[in-house]
Amino acid sequence: MERTDILVIGGGLAGLRAAIAAHDAGRTVAVMSKVYPIRSHSGAAQGGVNASLGNHPDGGDDTWQGHAFDTIKGSDYLADQPRAEILAKDAPAAVIEMEHWGAYFSRFDDGRIAQRPFGGAGFPRTCFAADRTGHHLLHTCWEQTLKRGIKVYSEWLLLELVKHGDAVVGAVALHIPTGDIESFPTGAVILGAGGHGRIFAKTTNAYINTGSATAAAYRAGARLEDMEFVQFHPTTLYGTNILISEGVRGEGGLLRGADGERFMDRYAPSVMELAPRDIVARGIQTEANEGRAFEGDGSGYVHLDIRHLGADVITTRLPGIRQIAMEFAGVDPIDEPIPVQPGQHYSMGGIACDEDGVTDLPGLYAAGECSCVSVHGANRLGGNSLLETLVFGKRAGDRAAANAGGSGGSGGGAGDVPSFVYDKAVQTQHDLIDAFASRDSGVRQIDIRRRMQQTMTAKVGVFRDEAPLADAVSELAGLREEYASVSLDATNRCFNYDLIDTLELGGMIELAEATALGALKRTECRGSHWRIDHPGRDDDNWLKHTMATRADDGTPELSFDDVIITDYEPMERKY
Ligand code: FUM
Repeated sequence: MERTDILVIGGGLAGLRAAIAAHDAGRTVAVMSKVYPIRSHSGAAQGGVNASLGNHPDGGDDTWQGHAFDTIKGSDYLADQPRAEILAKDAPAAVIEMEHWGAYFSRFDDGRIAQRPFGGAGFPRTCFAADRTGHHLLHTCWEQTLKRGIKVYSEWLLLELVKHGDAVVGAVALHIPTGDIESFPTGAVILGAGGHGRIFAKTTNAYINTGSATAAAYRAGARLEDMEFVQFHPTTLYGTNILISEGVRGEGGLLRGADGERFMDRYAPSVMELAPRDIVARGIQTEANEGRAFEGDGSGYVHLDIRHLGADVITTRLPGIRQIAMEFAGVDPIDEPIPVQPGQHYSMGGIACDEDGVTDLPGLYAAGECSCVSVHGANRLGGNSLLETLVFGKRAGDRAAANAGGSGGSGGGAGDVPSFVYDKAVQTQHDLIDAFASRDSGVRQIDIRRRMQQTMTAKVGVFRDEAPLADAVSELAGLREEYASVSLDATNRCFNYDLIDTLELGGMIELAEATALGALKRTECRGSHWRIDHPGRDDDNWLKHTMATRADDGTPELSFDDVIITDYEPMERKY
């Protein structure tokens, strides 16, 4: 493939925003995406994007400092504070830029962008486009990508990053429709490829959220940060775990147990349903564990009731939610409550990087959910995820553009890389695929994948305990060994999803292992990580980031980094 200054991997919001920034800085840019970009998972983000615009009378004196504080408190003080401040400070401009680029937003009567309350702020700070905010922002960035004529490689699966010395100088990818394998030489790679929620069985994440880019970065030597912090969204649709937006509670939705009682006063009496997600998820799970929820298939669910909002609000503010509830649960929320339960939703952990996306590897940048800038710490606030894609996508694009091809900094400088480096990287992938195809072991990827997902949901879930976590770590190590003898059901190359799933599974197991090991080692409760055998937050021993480095055999090795604390001393988190 033709060399570009910057190769962006991921066609969702973080990737496209990075590509636009790098292009506007005068660089040649290409975007590689596993799916056609507007099918990226950013399009599934529903409820909104946070910015201290102060458009709502109840939030009229909102400030970026207030947003930063709420983010840091919501993170259970694990966020790196200067970075959370950047997120909040850049938010209003990022949202207004989207507005100027033509993004739809729901609006107040005076024409200003509407804001609804989300957990963690206590008043309306979340800007939204009904319940399809991510969809509209994604289409807006896609239009801007097309307008600039940025080259897009759709339906290419990243297989491996190419290194020359320490520097990342390109990628090797598989063209899903044909099975062709090609190298992509570049001056710098930006990963904006989304999360890895599919390592769990119950998740809001799309089938594409396998973490293939995160795993490739890990194999290339980048460290993964805070992997044990997994966000369980409190309200996923019982049965399919499709996201039922926090915006539903923002509009006034109430959570009720099996006897119709509102139970959130037991967990967050002052903010009830609008507590941060970790608290609401634990509240629902506790109701289920203590027999006050509906039993269902045994995993338990509660009711999310919006009948009192009336048909008008439901059809204008929450049309997508109504459609999902009707089509996937057979429930019209105008007349009946929605059955919900917690499910994996977002990975706070990811590729360690700074506020400009700079990772441990020269020439490699990261932004969005695959990254860990460390603004979400132990628990992300709803509405900060779309925001991080815009703020940190742009910053990564700017920084990579400034450095690409240079002699120092993080520039890879692929111009000096001999072609055999790329040829060899391509051949390695051919050999790997040939090895899968030539085996007839009878070990199928789908069996291993399902066991991994069930282990993660059952043993690395909302409530965690030493023995199940230790089991999970050893089960996952066993699955990694089994994976070494996987064979393919089908060996053709065109749209071969058995092959694609097999290639991705190895990385998924390694991400799951890093998650489970971090959860086992962190003997405290903080944000989303709740150890029933170690009650309470332990700042003396655990106010630190977990860093996972991949050993040669694929096992994670943990070390720890300090949290950057500047303006806000850690306090008890009360809601
Ligand atoms: O609940 C939601 O609408 C999801 C938003 C988010 O994850 O930020």
